[in-house]
Amino acid sequence: MKIFLDTADVEAIRARIDSGVVDGVTTNPSIIMKSGKPFEPVAREILEIVPGDVSIEAMSTTCDEMVAESRQLASWGKNAVIKLPMTRDGIKALSILSREGIRINLTMVASLNQALLACKARAHYVSIIVGRIDATGADGMEVVRDTRAMMRQYGFEAQIIIGSVRTPNHVMMAIRAGAQVLTLGTTVFDQLYDHPLTEAGLEQFAKDWQAVENR
Ligand code: E4P
Repeated sequence: MKIFLDTADVEAIRARIDSGVVDGVTTNPSIIMKSGKPFEPVAREILEIVPGDVSIEAMSTTCDEMVAESRQLASWGKNAVIKLPMTRDGIKALSILSREGIRINLTMVASLNQALLACKARAHYVSIIVGRIDATGADGMEVVRDTRAMMRQYGFEAQIIIGSVRTPNHVMMAIRAGAQVLTLGTTVFDQLYDHPLTEAGLEQFAKDWQAVENR
């Protein structure tokens, strides 16, 4: 299981990368907007400080433009993975770019049928937007479980990224569903460390140890 950070906050990434458990970063236009910085410098900085895969999104809307933009973005770093949208042009561009060896993260996938198209066009990553699916009243993890089963059944090599993660429970469900990658905002990432029983137990140990040292 890989863990990516779903953020373009360079300081937040720097603060967590040394944990040794962060394998990469994903961004999207909203995340870049929140960083308060222009796209290219912030994307290049993240590509430099993160040794693993960094997803950066191509914002063109036609196939030809997406192909040209993705080639350009891919030249920014060996660890650059290009995000393309789940659209007709996005799938067409993905088919062209995957044949060139450019790694594509097909994003905004919300159904098994969309995941099928992404896999057939040879996406490197398929981002399933679990939290957004749940918000419609449907079951995001069902799409993940079905996609995982489809990949096994037909031997598709794409990796599922669980996106739109809203809670630590989404993380546990993603593990049980056999997803290969989680992309987490910093809040949920930080929550992975915590459990009240751990805190209470360690607090008691610290108190008892103080009593031992005072003997
Ligand atoms: C993934 O591809 C998405 O860009 C991202 O995880 C979406 O997260 P959000 O629903 O919190 O915007």
